[in-house]
Order: sequence, then structure tokens, then C-alpha cells
Amino acid sequence: MATGREITYSRFSESNPEDVFELSTVSIPQQVGSGEALVRIKCSMVHPCDIGCASGLVNGIELPAIGGFEGFGVVEKVGADLQKRFSKGQRVHVSATHIFGSWKTWLGIWRDYAVLPSEALIPVPDDIEDDVAAQIFVNVLTPLAMVREMRLGPGDVLLQTAAGSVVGRVMIQLGKIFDFQTVNLVRRKETASELIETYGIGTVYVHNGFSGSAEFLKEEIRKELGNAPIKFAIDAVSGDVGRFCLEMLDPGGVIYFYGALSGNSRVPVDIVSDLCRDNKSVKGWSIQETWLRTTSDDTKQSHLDEIWRFLSTRKIVLPAIGTIFPMEKIRDAVIASRQPGKTGKVMLVCESL
Ligand SMILES: NC(=O)c1ccc[n+]([C@@H]2O[C@H](COP(=O)([O-])OP(=O)(O)OC[C@H]3O[C@@H](n4cnc5c(N)ncnc54)[C@H](OP(=O)(O)O)[C@@H]3O)[C@@H](O)[C@H]2O)c1
Repeated sequence: MATGREITYSRFSESNPEDVFELSTVSIPQQVGSGEALVRIKCSMVHPCDIGCASGLVNGIELPAIGGFEGFGVVEKVGADLQKRFSKGQRVHVSATHIFGSWKTWLGIWRDYAVLPSEALIPVPDDIEDDVAAQIFVNVLTPLAMVREMRLGPGDVLLQTAAGSVVGRVMIQLGKIFDFQTVNLVRRKETASELIETYGIGTVYVHNGFSGSAEFLKEEIRKELGNAPIKFAIDAVSGDVGRFCLEMLDPGGVIYFYGALSGNSRVPVDIVSDLCRDNKSVKGWSIQETWLRTTSDDTKQSHLDEIWRFLSTRKIVLPAIGTIFPMEKIRDAVIASRQPGKTGKVMLVCESL
């Protein structure tokens, strides 16, 4: 019987997530339901949120689970009801928390073959490369959904942390497309210089989480912005850096907390001064928990159409993939994905391709 492989985990570990994964051999499913397709997965991403899943920090994952948020594949078999929409050989984006509808069951993507419902499949235009298509959900839909939800446009200022992440880089490019200004924070000065050069932007600020430099940094940012208020902020670092963003936000502004890269998921909020007096709004934001569940399929489709257009016309260019690992090297892949200063995302590919 033909076999494939999958990467599973049966326990969570916040301290050593790289140790929880196991590669096993499984038979390739022969049957697909009428609303499903069998997909040969060619490559899949190793995102910070995949580490979050293995750390037990993401909802909806029942153990044992197959790892992997998203990837790219080719349709092998199509269920009876999908014959008009999908065909054998079609290139598709695949996601564990399917994008259309309201997902209930996590269907991890770190495997050679997967039977997936049509809601988890997004046809990929011919001119979009496989490795670009593999990351559109976490790295491109996330910032675009935030921009659309915040209604960012000309004259607006968005403060963002982890600006060197792929989400941060796409946000910088969206700033150019939608004509809002990004104020960008990173933790290393090398990233600051590289972002300035790559995207032709002004100052990129370095905040490494030590509060000593925070007051000076605030003054520098204020000097740059003049009278322009910061009404929008997004933070993926949390802890001191998250607090810094909340303090930088002008009265009436909104901040989305969407990650905790610092490992400290606590940000002190002063109910009296931050919320009551200054009327700031603090919002936790998650593409899979909040946005996917509260957004109509029509809006999702129009965001995807927009994403393909921006990628096709190179208004958005994703950084080149960094290190590529075969599936059996999942432990090394997870470790590499967490290295400070890694260049490019880590990707898993099927060895036999
Ligand atoms: N809530 C959601 O819906 C959602 C969706 C997508 C992504 N996210 C979150 O967004 C963040 C970025 O994701 P991504 O896929 O774009 O990441 P990525 O491209 O893999 O990049 C990770 C980035 O984070 C930076 N970083 C790591 N630890 C940091 C720290 N302690 N302080 C400051 N910066 C730090 C790294 O900087 P160096 O270059 O210095 O190493 C690197 O630039 C992650 O937290 C992820 O979980 C959340």
C-alpha cells in the first residue's frame, strides 16, 4: 500500500517545543468525501505560531495532532461535489484552520498527503510561486486583514513591533500601497539598517525590551511624527515592548496585541489612565480565532483576490525563504526557525519531490 509521512505531537512543551514532534509513516488515504480533495503537499511553513501550537498556546488543537498551519500542494483526487471547482494537478494553498466557513477541526499540514475540505483549499494563480503561495495566510492575510479592519489610509500612523518579521515587512509594504505611515520597531540594529535599505523607509527604531532606552526612544519618535497622532498600533512582542506601544498610542487610539515573541505575555494596562481617561482600546487579535470566525466568505475572498493582485504586480514582495529542511529534520527546522537573526522563513519540503 502506498505510504506517506506526517509530523505529529502528543504533548505540549513551552520550554522545548522542538522535542515534541515525531515523524511517522501512514497509508495514503484512498477515499475522499464528496466535498473533499486529496492534496499532495509539496511544502509547508514553520511559523512562530506553529511553535505556539506545540507549546499548547493555540486553541482548538486536540492531541495527538498533526503540526503545521499552512503550506502549498497539488490536488490529486477530487470529491464528487467539487469537480467543477477543482481538478487533478491544480495548485492550491492549504491550511489547518481552513480559511472559508468557520473552522472547527484542526487539520495539520506537515504531511505528504492530506484529505481536506474545500474550505481549506485556495486555488493559486499560475504566476505565484509555490513558496510564496505557501505563506499567504499567516504572513499576508494577517496584516491585510488588520489594515482593512482598522481602515488605515492616508494620514494615518501605525506603530508596529517586530517590523523585521514577514508580517511586519508586509505591513511596511501595505503602508505604501494604502498610503499610511508605519513607525517601525525592531530588536536589533542590523535589522533596522536592512529594512531601511530594502524598503526605502526612514528611521527604524531599535527597542530591545530594556526600559532604560524607552524614554529617549519615545522622544525620538515624537520628534519624527511632529503633530501626527499615533492612533493605531500592532504588537507581536508583548511585555515591556507591548507596554511601550500602549504608552506611545495617542488618546482614542487602538492597539492590537497579536503575539508574544518576548515570551512574556503580560502587558500592564492602567484602567484609569489608559482606558478611562485616554480612551485607548486594547484588543487581542488572532487571525484564526477572531478574524476567520467573524468575517464573511465574500470578504475573505476579496482579501485573497487583493493578495494575489499585490503579489502578482510585486507591490508586495515576500523575503526569500531561508533554510529548507526535509520532513525528517523537523527538530532542526523548529530550532532554526527560532534562531535570532535568521534570514528568511524556515520551510519543510517533501524529500521525494
Ligand atoms: N495573532 C495572529 O493572528 C498572528 C498571525 C500571524 C503572525 N502572528 C505573530 O506575528 C509574529 C511574527 O510572525 P511572522 O510569521 O511574521 O514571524 P517571522 O517572519 O518568522 O519573524 C520573526 C521575527 O520576530 C522577531 N523577534 C523574535 N523574538 C523577538 C523579540 N523577543 N523581540 C522582538 N522581536 C523578536 C525576529 O527578529 P530577529 O530578526 O531579531 O530575530 C524576527 O524578525 C509572531 O509573534 C507570530 O506568532 C500572529
